[in-house]
Amino acid sequence: MTVPQIDLETADLLSDAAVADPYPLLAALREQDPVHWSAKYRSWFITRYDDVAGALRDERFSSDRISPYRRAKLENPETDPGLRAAFGVLEDWMVFKDQPDHKRLRRLLSRAFTPRAVAEMTPRVDEIAEELLRDVREHHDGSGTLDLIGDYAYPLTASVIADMLGVPREDRGRFKDWSDQITGLVFGGMGDSSRHAVGAQGMAELTAYLSELIRAHEQHPADDLISAMISARDADDALSHDEVIATGVLLLFAGHETTTNLIGSALLALMQHPDQRHALEARPELLPGAVEEALRFDGPAKTVARVMGDDVELRGRRLRRGERVFLSPSAANRDPEVFDDPDTFDIGREKSAQLGFGVGMHYCLGAPLARLEASVAIPRAFQRLPGLRETGERLEWHPVLLSRGMRRFPARFDAR
Ligand code: HEM
Repeated sequence: MTVPQIDLETADLLSDAAVADPYPLLAALREQDPVHWSAKYRSWFITRYDDVAGALRDERFSSDRISPYRRAKLENPETDPGLRAAFGVLEDWMVFKDQPDHKRLRRLLSRAFTPRAVAEMTPRVDEIAEELLRDVREHHDGSGTLDLIGDYAYPLTASVIADMLGVPREDRGRFKDWSDQITGLVFGGMGDSSRHAVGAQGMAELTAYLSELIRAHEQHPADDLISAMISARDADDALSHDEVIATGVLLLFAGHETTTNLIGSALLALMQHPDQRHALEARPELLPGAVEEALRFDGPAKTVARVMGDDVELRGRRLRRGERVFLSPSAANRDPEVFDDPDTFDIGREKSAQLGFGVGMHYCLGAPLARLEASVAIPRAFQRLPGLRETGERLEWHPVLLSRGMRRFPARFDAR
C-alpha cells in the first residue's frame, strides 16, 4: 500500500471510514508521526513495531489506567454509584494492574491456560463447533444464509469459556447482552454518553450472577476455574472474594469477545483471498501459520492503552507522567521494517512475531486457548458449510478504539 497523505490533526480512528478500514490511517500515523499527540483524544498514539513492543515491555508505561480515572471522576460524590461499582470491578482485573498485584492474580490462573492444559480441550471445542454448524445447516431459512458472528463464532467462544469457568449451559444466553454492555466500558466508544450507564447496568447484573454462582460452587465444588479460584481464596488468602468475582468477569469477557473477532476476521480474510483459502484446504499443515497471519493482518487488538507512570522521551517527544497512550498492535503488525509486504495476507509467512496478543508481562493469558479455538473454528466452517462466502452486504465494525471486530458477518453457503 502506498501510504496516503492524511491530515493527522483532523483524522479520527473512530470516523466511519477508519472504523471500516483503519489501516490507511494507521499507516499514515506510522510514517508521518509515529509518536503522535491527538488533541481530540488527549492521548498519544504509538504505531511503529519497535516502539509498541518496547512500550509494552516498559513498566513506566503503566497498566493501571483505572485508578487515575477513579481519582478524577469516580470519587466525585455526584458520580452514579453503579458506575463507581463497575469501575471497582475493573480495577481488580489483572490486565489493569502493575506489580506486585499483577503477578499474584496471574499466577493463579496460569496453570489452567498452558498450551498443554488447553490442548486437552480440543475434543470439546470441536464438538461445540460441529454442533453449531449442524444447527446452522438444519435450521437455516432455506436460503443458506447465516451470521458467522452471532450463529457461530460468538456461541462457540462463549461456550468454551463458560465450560472452563463452570457456568451452567442454560445460563449462557444471558452473557451476550452483559458482555455487549460491558464492552462500552472496557473498549471505550468515545462520544457515546449512554455507554457508561449501560455498562454499569450490565456489570451489576453479571457480578450479581457470578456471586450466586460462587455460592453454588462453595457448596458443590467442581473441576472448573471458579472452584479453583475459591480454593485459592480460602487456602492462603491468595485472592479476595471481590477478586474472584472480578477475575470471573474478566475471563468471561476477555475469553470470548476478542476470539470471536479473530474467528470473524480470519474467515473474512480467507474468503477475500481465495488463493490462500485454497492453499489452506490443500495443505492443512498451514493452519497454525494461517491463524498467526490472521492475527497479524487484521487482528482484534487495534490498540492497547497505558498511562504514563513517569516522564519518557521517545523519538524526540516527551510523554509526561499521567498522560494516556494508545499503543497499536494493528499498526505495528503492518510495519514494513519488520514484515515484508505487510499489507499482503500470506498464510505461508516464514515466521511471524506479530503483536496481536501483546508482549511482556501482560502477554495474553488466553493466547493458547484463542489459537486452539481459531484452529478448530476456521477449517470446520469451510468444511461443513460448502461454498461459504460473503453475501456482499456492507460489513459493520464495532466503532471502538481498542478493538477491531464485526458486529455481524452475513455469509452464505450452498444449501442442499
Ligand atoms: C484472539 C483472541 C485474543 C486476543 C487478540 C487477545 C489479546 C490480548 C492482549 C493484546 C492482551 C494484552 C493487554 C495489555 O497488554 O494491556 C491480552 C491480555 C489478556 N488476555 Fe487476551 N486476547 C485474546 C483471547 C483471550 C482469551 C481466550 C482469554 C481467556 C480465556 C484471554 C485472557 C486474557 C487475560 C486474562 C489477559 C490479561 C493478562 C495479564 O494482564 O497478565 N484473552 N489479551
